[in-house]
Amino acid sequence: MHIPFISPFVVSPFDSLHALSTRLLYLLLPTSFFGWAPSGSNYLLGLGVADITGPTVEENLMGYAVLSQVGTGLYMRQRVRAFIVAEPDGERVLLLNADIGMGDTGVRRALLSALAEEFGNDTYNAGNVAFVGTHQHSGVGGYLENLLPQLTALGLSNQSFSAIVQGSVLATRRAHASLTPGSLSVGTGRVEQGSRNRSPTAYLANPSAERARYQQNGGENGDQEWNMSVLRFEDATGSADGRGFLSFFAVHGTSVYEVRLSSPLSNYPQQPAEQHISKWGQQGYCCILVRMQVPHFIPYHCANDLAATIEPNSMPGNTTYVAGFVQGAVGDTSPNTLGAFCESPGKPYDGLPCVANSSTCGGAAQDCHGRGPLFTNDPFGFASSLEIGRRQADGVKQVFYGSGQAMTPVKGAVRSAHAYVDMSKHEFVLPNGTSVRTCPAAMGYSFAGGTTDGPGAFDFIQGDNKTSQNPFWEVVKRFVTPAPPKEQIACQFPKPILLNVGYAHEPYEWSPSTVDVQILRIGNLVILVIPGELTTMAGRRMREAIRAKLISGGIVGEDAHVVVAGPANTYSHYITTPEEYAVQRYEGASTLYGPHTLDAYLDRYTQLVPYLADDARGKAPPSDPAPEEQVSKAISLKTGVKFDEPPIGKHFGQAVKDVKANSTYAAGERVEVKFVGANPRNNLRLEGTFLAVERLLGDKWTMLKSDSHPSTTLQWVRDSTILGTSTVTIAWTIENGTTDGLYRIVYYGDSKAAIGGKITPFVGTSGNFTVV
Ligand SMILES: *[C@@H]1O[C@H](CO)[C@@H](O)[C@H](O)[C@H]1NC(C)=O
Ligand SMILES: *[C@@H]1O[C@H](CO)[C@@H](O)[C@H](O)[C@H]1NC(C)=O
Ligand SMILES: *[C@@H]1O[C@H](CO)[C@@H](O)[C@H](O)[C@H]1NC(C)=O
Ligand SMILES: *[C@@H]1O[C@H](CO)[C@@H](O)[C@H](O)[C@H]1NC(C)=O
Ligand SMILES: *[C@@H]1O[C@H](CO)[C@@H](O)[C@H](O)[C@H]1NC(C)=O
Ligand SMILES: *[C@@H]1O[C@H](CO)[C@@H](O)[C@H](O)[C@H]1NC(C)=O
Ligand SMILES: *[C@@H]1O[C@H](CO)[C@@H](O)[C@H](O)[C@H]1NC(C)=O
Ligand SMILES: *[C@@H]1O[C@H](CO)[C@@H](O)[C@H](O)[C@H]1NC(C)=O
Ligand SMILES: *[C@@H]1O[C@H](CO)[C@@H](O)[C@H](O)[C@H]1NC(C)=O
Ligand SMILES: *[C@@H]1O[C@H](CO)[C@@H](O)[C@H](O)[C@H]1NC(C)=O
Repeated sequence: MHIPFISPFVVSPFDSLHALSTRLLYLLLPTSFFGWAPSGSNYLLGLGVADITGPTVEENLMGYAVLSQVGTGLYMRQRVRAFIVAEPDGERVLLLNADIGMGDTGVRRALLSALAEEFGNDTYNAGNVAFVGTHQHSGVGGYLENLLPQLTALGLSNQSFSAIVQGSVLATRRAHASLTPGSLSVGTGRVEQGSRNRSPTAYLANPSAERARYQQNGGENGDQEWNMSVLRFEDATGSADGRGFLSFFAVHGTSVYEVRLSSPLSNYPQQPAEQHISKWGQQGYCCILVRMQVPHFIPYHCANDLAATIEPNSMPGNTTYVAGFVQGAVGDTSPNTLGAFCESPGKPYDGLPCVANSSTCGGAAQDCHGRGPLFTNDPFGFASSLEIGRRQADGVKQVFYGSGQAMTPVKGAVRSAHAYVDMSKHEFVLPNGTSVRTCPAAMGYSFAGGTTDGPGAFDFIQGDNKTSQNPFWEVVKRFVTPAPPKEQIACQFPKPILLNVGYAHEPYEWSPSTVDVQILRIGNLVILVIPGELTTMAGRRMREAIRAKLISGGIVGEDAHVVVAGPANTYSHYITTPEEYAVQRYEGASTLYGPHTLDAYLDRYTQLVPYLADDARGKAPPSDPAPEEQVSKAISLKTGVKFDEPPIGKHFGQAVKDVKANSTYAAGERVEVKFVGANPRNNLRLEGTFLAVERLLGDKWTMLKSDSHPSTTLQWVRDSTILGTSTVTIAWTIENGTTDGLYRIVYYGDSKAAIGGKITPFVGTSGNFTVV
């Protein structure tokens, strides 16, 4: 696949030169230079960030998989962060931490081929590149290659897919160009009340002796891991902040609710609806706002916090300091730390906790919603999202600067091991000697029930003979998964099979059968890269088994620090323990390959361990064949932008509802301007911005805010499809501490001509206003 690059910040001609000179430098240095002293520079480190924001409107959002959750604008851009760790003259690993729901085989394949084209076949390859999603649930969807997750997106979105691939290559190029000697430290902190178990009744099915070992680890009775691991990237000067970090902590990116348009604000009883409305602007705005894509707040906040002194004037996403928040065993975690309650106005159980083992209210899942720590502040979860982000940021700061446990230097070789495994029929022997196998993928009934973070999942159920709202379903429903044969029912037992996806290969694969298993080793830090969402206990079993194997094999010493990263590379939904599987809550129902799924991974990841040894350089583990490519078969019902026109007598970018002439605003107030707009899909403006808040400095307007600041929003409404007219509303909520001065709001748009389809950029400017 050819990926056109549009970034103005291209650095590539110098990349390889730079890398080469760095390498030469190392060859010339005496080996003692690489001694493992804490302040020594024992690795080459590269960090980079790039924009991956796909179409912000007329595209389904990925995470909750709800047909009606379609983007209508932009809240913050999505980024990918690239981290490279290389031995001075040896192996390297690249971890890409992307603000998307999950890694995907198709995206990864396209990415690897683009990386091979740019850096040669061996530098970044299937073995040493981990493509990890932050698991946010409010970003642009439509990029996954399998059919099931495409259902609500009406098929594959080329624009969305390409933005992710292109941005990931750009972030890698920047990281590669920044490779310089440095060192790494690892430390552990605790994020108090950082998550809550959303399937506690399934967790309780795990053996009590096992659970007893984790009583203190977080959550109720240890059903969560509040430990956070942090890997700090340090330059040769050893500054306290370093150049960036990777943190590993598990909490679902579901703080911002999937809230549907029909959700009445009165569902949130603790604060009158009017307060929410005044907080977010005029009536009606609130409901549209939540349908904009909302990447997780965390990266901005922490990066901003920590980098404030280093890069005070940089725009979010345009920093050299790179903060990566990676998910650990995220499966049964929730950011809704207060628990799940019935939002059932008029019902006797309104406001009461949901029925625990089924997460229902009055027998139905629909009204049962998790509540975040600040759920009374706004009905969308924005405040809670910030709060959960703050808690994680504090976790990192505690590790960096807190007293107590210090960070310890990371020492040892860089290695990676990767294999494909066909999980539809992986045969292996359990530790007790019994031979078992995994099953072709299947979804159980509880999958359709969704979770307390977002009831209901995928809308395939409506595809009976009634008129469906989903045209994609109308195309694919005749292929609806074949009835499971006896052996599949027995293999998946006790899961009652709702969707027998492992038998559905038409028009293309509904779910993956072959997944990526991968481990990255950075000295004594070992990252298990997981193609799905491990539950808390499943994550512990994986980490402990691999750690034991690393130590017994003499590969890493007692200082082995093992972390989980996922969902990465392939999305194969959930991975529970067999005991949790037997309970068949959402996570168990979504454990694709049957009750032995986790044990199969334990088996397969354990086999990768010897390939992480110092002397295993260049050796690759045995592998099943790579999965067949699906993207070229993909159906897309997405139509392109037809055309844009301004209303008669007006021009693109004209402010149709402007600030009042010479008006004055204060901190906390919201400035809102409506412009004659055009479809943002005409130009994604990657690495750029759709808007600017500008201040007059001397006689020059200077950009202070971009579309990635949490204080700004852009909302697009198509007024008439026939006339091609649309309106863009840009809003800025003035932050405390904003400097006094003369300000204006600028809109950068692109229109598509009705004849010829030429795309033309335009600029709209608001009137001046004063901030006091
Ligand atoms: C890289 O791999 C591609 C595809 O396998 C192959 O066509 C090409 O010849 C390889 N290039 C080099 C320099 O090995
Ligand atoms: C997908 O997008 C890329 C880049 O925007 C383009 O080159 C390619 O032709 C598109 N493919 C399809 C199938 O539309
Ligand atoms: C997690 O934290 C608990 C309690 O602080 C501690 O006992 C445990 O060893 C930690 N686990 C890991 C993997 O660091
Ligand atoms: C849920 O719990 C209730 C009471 O604790 C019990 O009566 C019921 O059988 C349980 N349901 C399931 C499906 O386990
Ligand atoms: C081994 O464990 C499996 C799964 O728990 C169980 O089904 C099987 O009966 C056990 N086999 C033996 C020989 O104990
Ligand atoms: C739906 O279609 C099936 C088979 O095509 C038919 O047997 C059934 O009666 C139909 N149901 C309804 C409600 O139309
Ligand atoms: C706005 O301020 C300018 C300069 O002070 C003044 O010339 C102009 O008349 C004012 N406009 C309005 C509508 O008050
Ligand atoms: C990003 O930062 C660089 C260096 O500070 C600057 O030149 C560039 O204009 C910035 N780009 C954006 C989109 O903010
Ligand atoms: C801004 O300042 C006001 C008044 O001092 C305060 O009430 C409010 O909490 C502050 N807002 C933020 C986001 O800090
Ligand atoms: C806004 O301020 C600038 C700079 O003082 C001035 O040139 C411009 O005319 C003003 N615009 C309006 C609409 O008053």
